[in-house]
Parts: sequence; C-alpha cells; structure tokens
Amino acid sequence: MSADLTKRDFAKAVGAAALGMAAAPPAGFAQTPAESQPKPVQGRAASFPDGFAWGVATSAFQIEGAVKEDGRGPSIWDVYAHKPGKIRDGSNADVANDHYHRYRDDVKLMQDMGVRNYRFSTAWTRIFPDGVGQPNAKGLDFYSRLVDALLEAGIEPFATLYHWDLPQALQDKGGWQSRDTAKAFADYAGYMAGKLSDRVKRFFTINEFFSFVDIGHRGIDETVGGKKVRIEFAPGLKLSNSRLNQVRHNAVLAQGLSVQAIRANAEAGTKCGPADNLATAVPAIETPANIKAAEIATREMNASYLTVILEGKYTDAYLAATGGDAPKFTDEDLRIISSPVDFIGINIYRPAVYVVASEHPGGFRPVPFNRSHPRMLSTWHLLGPEAMYWAPRLAHSLWKPGEMYITENGCAASDEMSASGIVDDSDRVMFLRNNLVHLQRATVEGLPVKGYFHWSLMDNFEWSDGFSSRFGLVYVDFKTQKRTPKLSAAYFREAIAKNAVV
Ligand code: FCB
Repeated sequence: MSADLTKRDFAKAVGAAALGMAAAPPAGFAQTPAESQPKPVQGRAASFPDGFAWGVATSAFQIEGAVKEDGRGPSIWDVYAHKPGKIRDGSNADVANDHYHRYRDDVKLMQDMGVRNYRFSTAWTRIFPDGVGQPNAKGLDFYSRLVDALLEAGIEPFATLYHWDLPQALQDKGGWQSRDTAKAFADYAGYMAGKLSDRVKRFFTINEFFSFVDIGHRGIDETVGGKKVRIEFAPGLKLSNSRLNQVRHNAVLAQGLSVQAIRANAEAGTKCGPADNLATAVPAIETPANIKAAEIATREMNASYLTVILEGKYTDAYLAATGGDAPKFTDEDLRIISSPVDFIGINIYRPAVYVVASEHPGGFRPVPFNRSHPRMLSTWHLLGPEAMYWAPRLAHSLWKPGEMYITENGCAASDEMSASGIVDDSDRVMFLRNNLVHLQRATVEGLPVKGYFHWSLMDNFEWSDGFSSRFGLVYVDFKTQKRTPKLSAAYFREAIAKNAVV
C-alpha cells in the first residue's frame, strides 16, 4: 500500500470521528484485539469537593460606566483613561458595560449560567467622592441594591474594596506615596463593612498589589517575541526605587489597617482577606528538590506583598536587595500589616517563572520561557495551566492560610460573533478546562481551596488595553450593549452543574 493511500484513509477516519461516526480502522492500521482494548475506569469524574464555590468576577471601573452619576467622584483611572495615548484603542470607561443601569440583567446572566457566587468591586469614589469626608448615600445605595438583587437570585456576593480606582482627590495629595491614603482606605473599608456585612459575608480588601503599585508607579517592560512591550497603569508614575518601595509598604499597611477596620465595624462572622496575583514559581520537573526551589522562589518574589502580610516581616533577601532604598517602617507597622486574615484570594493567569533547584546560594535557577513557549492572546499571557495547582500548593506550604479562593483566572481571546450570532471561543474552553484539571488536583490533594472565580463574567474595559482585550464568558457588543454568552459560558455552566472538570 502506498503511503499516500494510508494518509487519505487516516484523514477519512479522523473526519468521520469528528462527525461522531464510528469508522472502521483504515486498512494498514493494526487491529487491536478486543481483550486488550482499554477498559473504562469505574468511578467518579474529576470532581470538586461538595460545596465548592463556582463564581465569576468583575471590577467596578471596568464595567459600571455612569462615571458622573449620583455624586460619584473621579478616580485616577478616569483621569488616566482620558489622557491621549494611554489606552491602546483610544477608548475610556465613561460608559463601559453600562452595568450601573443594567445590573439586573447582568445578575440574570449569571443566574442563567448557574453561577452561585459573584466577586465584584465597590468604587471608593461612589462612596467617598473625594476619598474622605461625608459618605454619599446614593453611591452606597447602588451596591445595596446590587447585593439584594444577587441574594434574590441565589448568588452569594463577595465584595472587593479596592480594585485600583483610587479617588483622584487623594492622588492630588500624594496618593499611595502618602501613609494617609492607607488610613483613608481603612476608613472607607470599615464604613463599607459596617453597611453591607448584614448581607455580604466575605470581603476582599485589596486586589493585586503588584499591578497597581509597580505597574502604576514605575511601569514594566515585557519582552515578547524579542520585542520590548511597555505596560503602564494609572496614575502612570515612574518613581525611584526608594519611593516605589515606600508605596509598596503603604499598600500593605492599608491591607492591615483595613482588616482591623473591617473587624471593628462588621457583623460577627464576616470574613476578609486580600486578593493578590501571587507570583508563582512552577517546578519545571516535579521532584522534591525542584519543589523546594519553587517554594523559595515564590516566597522571595512576593516578599513585599503576600510574604510580609502573612509572615509579618520583610525577608532578609528583600532587605538586602533593596539596601538603602528599603522602605522606612516600624515594628508596629509590621504588626498591623500582618493582622490575621481569614483567607487569601489568589489571582492566577500563568506561572511567573519555571525553576529548577540549584547549588547557587539563592537555591533555585529560573528556567527562561523558550521563544516558542505558547501563549494566549495577551502579550503577557504565557500558557502554563499547572500554575493553577502550584499557586495554592506553595501558598499552603509557605503560609498555611486557613482558606484560599482562586479569585481570578481567565484569558483574552480573539472572539468574534459569527453571522449566525454565536461566539465559538475554542481557545478559552481549552484554557479553562486545562486550568480546572490542575485546580481539581489541588482540591483532591486536600488543599483548602474553597472556590474559583472566572475572570470575567463579560467582556469589559481591560485597563490600558481598552476594549481590545475580551476576557468575558459573555460577549458584549459595546455599541448596543447586547450580551451574548460564548461557548465558554456553556462549558462553565456544565462544569458548575457537574461540580467537575468536563
Ligand atoms: C487582572 C485584573 C483584572 C483584569 C485581569 C485580566 O490583573 O485584576 O482587573 O484586568 O487581570
């Protein structure tokens, strides 16, 4: 038989299988005797623990719009988005998803997807338009109505108090370079907990320290396919090392002060903790030595954020590396920063780095991402679903947090609506399934991961990418505000219904 014929027969068999047809093995393929055919394994599918919380996430600035309504004050992102050249597609978030007016429809979208938990953020400038002073009752009323609508729909609200939208009035007084901002944040956090904890039982304090501190106050350069890509966020500063380290310190101080304020004002039983994008080192090959190396690397990469929050001290390596530029702090600061939390939220999109063990004094060797390493649509989004297992595993071995939530995970994709009105986001389904496989491993091994929030419910304003990066399970036509669930929404609904990887 010629090689050509074999190839054609093979193509025919594959084509038939794709249409769900049983094809006879083409001539030339070995026949497997019946007794050595693989036997189906009896037992449960790749299930998650009972009560596992499935949810979706959004943030206020990215979806709400209505930026001048009902007394809302401007945030640093309003100001930044209106500066020419800052947002890739020249857009701003004045309208965004118009969620402020359409929140009831959006709650219904979640309900239809079988989502039982929702992580949203509250906009500081709706509550305190200038960051401090008299609260704005209309701003609070919006979140109160949203929470009621969620509860009526059987959806548990998880509120994030800071998702990067600092009041511009506080920026004008130094922003996160000032300790007063940390105090103002705690006052706002305590106020929100006092008002909402009759119905909101879990609060996330601050979202992703690195993103708003480092990217907002220095900016980062990523190398993508040999080219440098610059990423900057509001307020768009380029601070010196010593000032940047002080901003980092003020941000974790805000974390500790807000935990204390929430405890002082919330109803008994209210839980809180940060939602951070833990920079995760993944062992390139799973051996005890490489796992240890990944643990050391993860602890050091997070020295100025989760490590100091959960250990109450800066690591020796961090203090040595920052030297004369180290932040100025007191022992009392460290006690505040490490105020005990009830859980940690982990936002995980990719491994920060792969590592192997090394004789080098640091104890690990970073393995560079190969130039051909696959990635998702966003320039920064290298693919490594195993980070979804290693992030909670390493956080647990380092710090033993009582509970963990995956507070964000997802990907942008080149989603397009077909002529018949459907959005087949095959790559997002692939991404999601692979991430869930690794998360399921974490839960099977007994790690206390209590839930998973997909980023995001719907396409929205993706910071400096504007509307050009679609992260939603639901497609949004930003001209008409029409919402259309994508294939991935159907996948997610099925995973939730089965409480398993599907
Ligand atoms: C995270 C942010 C979130 C969104 C996703 C894609 O870093 O917390 O607001 O931008 O990335």
